[in-house]
Amino acid sequence: MSWWWAGAVGAARKKLGDDERSNTFQSVALVIGVTGIVGNSLAEILPLSDTPGGPWKVYGVARRPRPAWNADHPIEYIQCDILDESDVVSKLSPLTDVTHIFYATWANRSNENENCEVNGAMLRNVLTAVIPNAANLSHICLQTGHKHYVGPFEAIVSGKIQPHDPPFEEDLPRLDYPNFYYTLEDIVFEESAKRDGLTWSVHRPGVIFGFSPFSMMNIVGTLCVYAAICKYENKPLKFPGSKASWNSLNVASDADLIAEQQIWAAVDPYGKNEAFNISDGDKKFDEDDLPKTYESVALIVGVTGIVGNSLAEILPLSDTPGGPWKVYGVARRPQPSWSADHPVQYIQCDVSDETETLSKLSPLTDVTHIFWVTWANRPTESECCHANGAMLRHVLSAVVPNAPSLRHVCLQTGHKHYIGPFETFGKLKPHDPPFTEDMPRLNAPNFYHTLEDILLETAAGRGEQTLTWSVHRPALVFGFSPHSMMNLIGTLCVYAAICKYENTPLKFPGTPAAWNCYSVVSDADLIAEHQIWAAVDPNAKNEAFNCSNGDVFKWKHFWRILAEQFGVEYVEFDEREERVSMVERMKGKERVWEEIVKAEGLAPTKLEEVAVWWFVDVILGRECMLDSMNKSKEHGFLGFRNTGTSLVSWIDKMKGYKIIP
Ligand SMILES: NC(=O)c1ccc[n+]([C@@H]2O[C@H](COP(=O)([O-])OP(=O)(O)OC[C@H]3O[C@@H](n4cnc5c(N)ncnc54)[C@H](OP(=O)(O)O)[C@@H]3O)[C@@H](O)[C@H]2O)c1
Repeated sequence: MSWWWAGAVGAARKKLGDDERSNTFQSVALVIGVTGIVGNSLAEILPLSDTPGGPWKVYGVARRPRPAWNADHPIEYIQCDILDESDVVSKLSPLTDVTHIFYATWANRSNENENCEVNGAMLRNVLTAVIPNAANLSHICLQTGHKHYVGPFEAIVSGKIQPHDPPFEEDLPRLDYPNFYYTLEDIVFEESAKRDGLTWSVHRPGVIFGFSPFSMMNIVGTLCVYAAICKYENKPLKFPGSKASWNSLNVASDADLIAEQQIWAAVDPYGKNEAFNISDGDKKFDEDDLPKTYESVALIVGVTGIVGNSLAEILPLSDTPGGPWKVYGVARRPQPSWSADHPVQYIQCDVSDETETLSKLSPLTDVTHIFWVTWANRPTESECCHANGAMLRHVLSAVVPNAPSLRHVCLQTGHKHYIGPFETFGKLKPHDPPFTEDMPRLNAPNFYHTLEDILLETAAGRGEQTLTWSVHRPALVFGFSPHSMMNLIGTLCVYAAICKYENTPLKFPGTPAAWNCYSVVSDADLIAEHQIWAAVDPNAKNEAFNCSNGDVFKWKHFWRILAEQFGVEYVEFDEREERVSMVERMKGKERVWEEIVKAEGLAPTKLEEVAVWWFVDVILGRECMLDSMNKSKEHGFLGFRNTGTSLVSWIDKMKGYKIIP
């Protein structure tokens, strides 16, 4: 059985409404510890309509009355102290329809022998009440943890035992020290052995990142409270740990991921009668982990731009298709601090300078793929054609003759392929949307045509099967980059921050058409994924593709979200008010931005770097035109983004890097 979970990509909220709930169930879960850090994730995920093994009916057990934050989950809440045998018998033995037990609780006592006794008794009480009465019980998921390999807290603190040498594999033998995890395992093994067809799985997370104010060990929650107190007392956030924990490589386990693993083990034959570690498997490379040999070598031209930055983040990950990737990244300015973490060989080079380009890029003889994600803006489109064409020619002339393994070039252009360049907006009739890739070129100069022609000519010169190409045509891009020449979201965030600072409402600076129409945008990470797909998949070679999120939105709906992100007053768009351009509105705000940067402790930036007012005027000055993603889908690219989620996540990222308050 193949297994996949939409996870972060499909992060759609799949909550069931009351009336959508199923009346017949395929499986019945009993979650012990339903308000705990993983229990709460199970209570949220199990009842969803697409959860494997479902539709699930869910019973959830905890000692305290049901808290408000858990009340939305469609589960039957049972208040029961599982340490009290008679309470357990009276409340759990009537649950004759239970098919799966998810055991995600524990009790803390002063020493490990007592832990073994108390935790053992709790589990026994549950199993004794349920197993004889639930004829269809088929699986028990037991959650333990990394202390299986390092010993209980008392042994860790006293240094009484030598833990196993990491990384921990599930088949490492038990340590010679009492451990309530071992007690629990033994009880589960013993009880399931007594009944034919009753299987088990053990789940061993590391430190868990999750949500539960009732958890006995919620590190993220606790650190948040610490940060809030520091903020309240106007103190810096000092790291309270040891040098070793500050510097060491850490793993954590996301509570939703643990729940997903338990559900997988509950329904998949491969998950039966086995113990599994479960951690997030973060894909970031540490310096020492960088691979020594590479399958592909990327040259990103425009590495600090809105899509270049996403490529620099995604290409080096360990599971990126076509990898391991070695990555060179080119831009004119020195490498900014916000891109310094990416394992990319940064090359400061102005590709409009032919000599500099030749001297800096011709030595890159191992390049296999070029990602063209840059451009130059000039006063007229004819000048744009000249300037952008020269940049691409300089790079290709430096790389193509010297990199014998070069096999693919991704060229990023955009919707202006179908609309015409900025200078012809309102003058030239665009194509009738939705745009499809086979629409002919418009009859006006366009630097996108110049770039396509140069690329196709170069590929043909080398043999189109030897050097392949793909053209990517995003709509407006949502992404992160303070060095982008067109970052609409970044600019709107700066606008919102200024409104907040000046205590004025967040007025929509566009036209009624832009406020009311359906809009489509392209998430920068999605574009990077699309380009990587085209770089490695034979189905995508020598083709042009649109690349957008696959949904639509309206600015009139997103405007409130933007206001909320900055705590600034939201106002409905007043279509009767005379339009004042952003360029006009924001004239002379350089000092205000300086003050905001200082007051909020932001990364030092100048207003003109982080805000591109003319671009907002252009984009929000007209109705958006839609495109079609059918060609990408038909060729095998099924990626998408929820634009609402994308909007908030880029704002969060810019806040995280202290670009905006
Ligand atoms: N942004 C959007 O919303 C959007 C939407 C649709 C289509 N597009 C198209 O996508 C293409 C790429 O634009 P983008 O918006 O992704 O780019 P961008 O965010 O403006 O980034 C440009 C990148 O290129 C670098 N760069 C600029 N001039 C350079 C030079 N002479 N030599 C070396 N590096 C240089 C910049 O860094 P330095 O300044 O430090 O050199 C930066 O890293 C363009 O054709 C654009 O029209 C963009």
